[in-house]
Amino acid sequence: MTTQQTPAADWLQSVRWNSLEDRLDLLDQRLLPDEIVYLELTTAKQVWDAIKQLAVRGAPAIGIAAAFGVYLGVRSFDGSREALLAEVGRQCDYLATSRPTAVNLFWALDRMRARAEALLGASGEGVETEAAKRALLDEAAAIQAEDEETCRLIGEHALELFEDGMGVLTHCNAGGLATARYGTALAPMYLAKEKGIALKVFADETRPVLQGARLTAFELQQAGVDVTLICDNMAGAVMAKGWVQAVIVGTDRVAANGDVANKIGTYSVAVLAKAHGIPFYVACPMSTIDLNTPSGADIPIEERHEDEITQGFGKRTAPVGVKVYNPAFDVTPNEYVTAIITEKGVVRAPYGENLKKLFT
Ligand code: MRU
Repeated sequence: MTTQQTPAADWLQSVRWNSLEDRLDLLDQRLLPDEIVYLELTTAKQVWDAIKQLAVRGAPAIGIAAAFGVYLGVRSFDGSREALLAEVGRQCDYLATSRPTAVNLFWALDRMRARAEALLGASGEGVETEAAKRALLDEAAAIQAEDEETCRLIGEHALELFEDGMGVLTHCNAGGLATARYGTALAPMYLAKEKGIALKVFADETRPVLQGARLTAFELQQAGVDVTLICDNMAGAVMAKGWVQAVIVGTDRVAANGDVANKIGTYSVAVLAKAHGIPFYVACPMSTIDLNTPSGADIPIEERHEDEITQGFGKRTAPVGVKVYNPAFDVTPNEYVTAIITEKGVVRAPYGENLKKLFT
């Protein structure tokens, strides 16, 4: 795998298909905000590693990257149509093991499987293997293009909930870097900027990997949005001062009852918001809603390596051998969620009923 230094652009695309080189260029988000480096990926294994190691992260972005990974995994495959179909299934199974919580990963891989079945399956379109591979690449590109449009729509619906001059707090990074463009929770902030509506954003730094400091503060600052970085343990103080009129976060999976998994620390923010009478909004594409998962208790929560806490950025900050618990996500029970904003509009409780309606 090689890497490529790229100068800062107006907005940074986290996942870029390079059609000239037939490879995936992935912005290495671990290096932000110091360095803008694209990894040049040519195999499914490299995509798996990039997802696992957080070079690409954020629920929609990992789904998009994995979809391109399926194509990379089969593009050199030489065999019958039936064998190619089986290989697509194997590559999807493999990429699905990279991270467990964000359902967008499984959603995108299921979509790639379904496309392969439609192209190559017994009652499918009967296309030849080379054409099927190109069609799979097109499917991955379509997932990416649709996500950009979806995020814009989420932003428009979310912006209806905000007013000029409001303070808005967010946790982790649910911005352009986590999606094809705009983000989910950050989309209204970009659209507000376009429309001349002033929002004052507070970005939690988001321990332990600092997606809020390294990514949210970075991308909003680049876009000229008014953003103030705070440590996670300052959210309550900032709310108590009356500086926050709404909280908006992204999510990795919404269960059928409206419980929401998102970056560790989100639950605490939701409890604080309720204590201060501040609405707590969750923004996500429909592909993040998982009606097959009944409640938050059924969402698999990824646990990550202790080094993220004890020596996150190279310097040891805890005693060697100390016990560590490092869940990457937590679950916010639905009673804390004021509304869920998707590309189809704003959904409120009762979530069990109203989320189901979205899909009918
Ligand atoms: O571990 P990460 O950085 O992938 O976690 C990301 C989040 O928790 C985001 O809030 C979520 O994926 C929504 S991104 C639009």
